[in-house]
Amino acid sequence: MNNNEYELYLGDALEILQTIEKESIDLIVTSPPYADSRTNTYGGIKPDEYNEWFLPITQELLRILKPTGTFILNIKEKVVNGERHTYVIELILNMRKQGWLWTEEFIWHKKNCYPGKWPNRFRDAWERLLQFNKNKFFKMYQEEVMIPIGDWAEKRLSNLSHTDKIRDTSKVGSGFGKNVSNWVGKDKVYPTNVLHLATECGNKNHSATFPYALPEWFIKLFTRPGDVVLDPFMGSGTAVFAALNMGRKAIGIDINPEYYNLVLGKIQNQQQVLF
Ligand SMILES: C[S@@+](CC[C@H](N)C(=O)[O-])C[C@H]1O[C@@H](n2cnc3c(N)ncnc32)[C@H](O)[C@@H]1O
Repeated sequence: MNNNEYELYLGDALEILQTIEKESIDLIVTSPPYADSRTNTYGGIKPDEYNEWFLPITQELLRILKPTGTFILNIKEKVVNGERHTYVIELILNMRKQGWLWTEEFIWHKKNCYPGKWPNRFRDAWERLLQFNKNKFFKMYQEEVMIPIGDWAEKRLSNLSHTDKIRDTSKVGSGFGKNVSNWVGKDKVYPTNVLHLATECGNKNHSATFPYALPEWFIKLFTRPGDVVLDPFMGSGTAVFAALNMGRKAIGIDINPEYYNLVLGKIQNQQQVLF
């Protein structure tokens, strides 16, 4: 594939993934169908059967990801019979057995969530973005997602104590760590692992879309132009469009002809830049 090239597939992710060359993908970013205990819901997998369904897919993803690549999995466990189901926790443990490293967990805070009332819990306003890798040494371009230093800096950095200036040589060994004085004179800082993004359900003809900024952020962080981004459950194609708009190559798969045709049509009409 050349830059900005794409491959779209209509079909079952497990079958299509088996046709993709090993170690050929730089970033997988996806939101698989939700677990759903209602039997006839389209695409819904029963929570008790979720691992059995999903693990053959993660095995294929492990095969096709480059050793330096990253897999971002957007998932959140349902409440079943009044308690959180454990299928996501089991999935993490089972994926580690397959050979994945569970590197990090980002939180997507749905900042436009409206209020609700339940007898025993509050509205769920966040989802997991689990980061898996094959190797501790994966590609990560942290400077690409730096953010303005913010209001805290002026007051805090003008009043540094002795401990603020002591070099943090522990933990990651970066020599930078939490030493606050390192930020004097800087305009930008690294973000946290919490992404505050509004949900987008508006006009994309799909009920469970990513906000565009979500795949965009991970594509910036983990890939360079020309790299290959895969979404095996592309839905309305948000990750595919973000990848193409940023000069990456994109591979998208969906089992639903309506979504496949929607994404194909938009790319062919070059509408992806409208996102
Ligand atoms: C949660 S949605 C993805 C939404 C997407 N992130 C977006 O921004 O529009 C999951 C998608 O997986 C698709 N799907 C369900 N089972 C599948 C399978 N076995 N293989 C491929 N796609 C599947 C559904 O049609 C649905 O569009």
